[in-house]
Amino acid sequence: MSIPMVDLKAQVRDLEAELFPAIRDVLSSTRFVLGPNVKALEEEVAAYHGVRHAVGVASGTDALLLSLKAAGVGPGDEVITTPFTFFATAEVVSLLGATPVFADVEDETMNLDPVQAAARITPRTKAIVPVHIFGRAAAMESFSKMAREREVVLIEDCAQAFGASRKGKKAGTFGLAGAFSFYPSKNLGACGDGGMVATDDEAFAGRLRILRDHGSRERYIHEVLGWNSRLDEIQAAILRVKLKRIESYNDGRRRVAARYSKELAGVVRVPSDDPDGRHVYHQYTIRTPRRDEVARALAGAGIGCAVYYPVPLHLQTVYKDLGCKEGSLPVAERLAREVISLPIFPEMTDGQVDEVCEAVKKAVNG
Ligand SMILES: Cc1ncc(COP(=O)(O)O)c(C=O)c1O
Repeated sequence: MSIPMVDLKAQVRDLEAELFPAIRDVLSSTRFVLGPNVKALEEEVAAYHGVRHAVGVASGTDALLLSLKAAGVGPGDEVITTPFTFFATAEVVSLLGATPVFADVEDETMNLDPVQAAARITPRTKAIVPVHIFGRAAAMESFSKMAREREVVLIEDCAQAFGASRKGKKAGTFGLAGAFSFYPSKNLGACGDGGMVATDDEAFAGRLRILRDHGSRERYIHEVLGWNSRLDEIQAAILRVKLKRIESYNDGRRRVAARYSKELAGVVRVPSDDPDGRHVYHQYTIRTPRRDEVARALAGAGIGCAVYYPVPLHLQTVYKDLGCKEGSLPVAERLAREVISLPIFPEMTDGQVDEVCEAVKKAVNG
């Protein structure tokens, strides 16, 4: 592959001089789980977001799962979310015995549409989970107001949006909790799995800390059922090195996105930049009815690409019992047919971007 979707090698190479000593320190300390690096990372991530607490967990999926559990979501509850997201967003709702209720997305932003979400609130609605898809913050002013007025919990899926913001306020700080993923390819990525929940609510943070460690606050004393979802020290040490560079990583993504948009506007539908916030382009996702031709052409040219997401969640086999028919959420369904994400990573060169653009133009114009 001459240009991969994501090239993690450059980042590891650049940081070697800091990463290896940080890892070595953990090895010599033999504190491997929930130690000083996790505590420091939690404080640094909380400070970065301007919230009081951050709780490290084993993955972004667990960050969502534990947040919903700590918010009291359980059997009989409904949780409104987007069908145009990674499966984990809805999966965790179902794993808790609650029911995901899918509402359509906005055509422009590809994010959960507040009007559609509001229309699906019922007396059983416990929570709303907007996802900041591809690094663009959802319409959080509307969701915050809705959550307050309709008395539902607001939990943000920030897996793809570390560092994104809306009117100067960071994604993950609008609701009760922001759930982050540190999967290696994420904007802030570990060298393995990891996740974190940011929150201003002290009691909620306390519940998360108990839930991530088998329902226990004191060793071998168990208050509730929980999980083993602890963040490990090596990942936390690596993340602390990378967190110092998150602004420049996100700037790098924005530089790549701006160059793509300049070259490709008019050729395909390019993602609009957020006029009210900072889009951090976890993905650079274009739309074209000739999506499959573009995918084939890019693969033929040795250029990575991916379809996020080919099947919206309401039409997944696992959710057939929810009874959602094709055509019920038309915007998400059209996106699933037309989207394709192009390579993007902070270190991508202008030359690489231009090469991808040439291949896209050739494929679209035939
Ligand atoms: C929108 C979204 N939510 C949740 C997750 C789950 O995160 P993790 O892979 O860290 O469990 C992901 C990861 O791909 C994601 O993209």
